[in-house]
Amino acid sequence: MEPKKIAVLGTGGGGRAHTAKLHELGHQVTVGTRDPEATLARTEPDMMGHPPYKQWLADHPGIPLATFADAAAAGEIIINGTDGANSVKALTSAGAENLAGKVLIDYAVPFLYNPETEHPWPTPWGVMPRLDPVDTDSLAEQIQRAFPDARVVKAFVTQEQDTVVNPRSIGDGDHSMFIAGNDADAKQTVTQLLKDYGWSDIIDLGDLYAARGMEMYAHMHSAIGFAMGGHFGIKVIR
Ligand SMILES: NC(=O)c1ccc[n+]([C@@H]2O[C@H](COP(=O)([O-])OP(=O)(O)OC[C@H]3O[C@@H](n4cnc5c(N)ncnc54)[C@H](OP(=O)(O)O)[C@@H]3O)[C@@H](O)[C@H]2O)c1
Repeated sequence: MEPKKIAVLGTGGGGRAHTAKLHELGHQVTVGTRDPEATLARTEPDMMGHPPYKQWLADHPGIPLATFADAAAAGEIIINGTDGANSVKALTSAGAENLAGKVLIDYAVPFLYNPETEHPWPTPWGVMPRLDPVDTDSLAEQIQRAFPDARVVKAFVTQEQDTVVNPRSIGDGDHSMFIAGNDADAKQTVTQLLKDYGWSDIIDLGDLYAARGMEMYAHMHSAIGFAMGGHFGIKVIR
């Protein structure tokens, strides 16, 4: 893909992985956060144990950090890498006008952490989060409904982000990546981006309804990860 202006909304491990890779591929990346000053002032690791953003930025100099709105305004393509329970809120502060007409790649999992539940699933990182929405709706569809002029594509979500941006790190890249969305041209753009990341088996699951399956796969991904540890990919054998 020709160099593009890309906004990565999200400063967690996922956002950082995409930002570093896109920068390396020659794209002009702007990272979005709620409050750039507050994000740069953090001194503690985040929930997943990633070092403070300022420390990461010192190793990746020259990548601008802006508010969600300023980053989205600067991007031709937008990547949503925010906490799933707060993604619609984050995108609302990015501004519908800054998303309109643009490819919006959503890879968030709509996890509600530490749920109160009758049958908790104990995991190494606490009680397994609950998905909301689930079954009869998905976060990607909620985002598409909230921002009808954005061209939403669900992608990336079925793998860890380090694998998404470096698929050849596992099985020499011989595994599958899924996309779903209602806009064929937008899916073409995301497919090209994934090829640039190194993916060759990219499976188009059709309309955005399929995002329900992609998001619900999060539990299966976790189960495999807990049982086997380490990094892994999944492949659809035909
Ligand atoms: N990491 C992975 O391997 C992986 C794999 C598959 C899917 N995902 C999904 O990718 C998304 C990002 O994951 P992550 O681990 O990189 O980061 P994360 O900790 O889930 O999310 C961090 C981002 O969410 C924003 N955020 C948190 N609370 C918010 C609120 N109340 N309002 C607005 N924004 C808020 C943060 O804003 P600030 O910058 O202002 O703090 C930050 O940019 C998640 O939905 C996750 O489920 C991650």
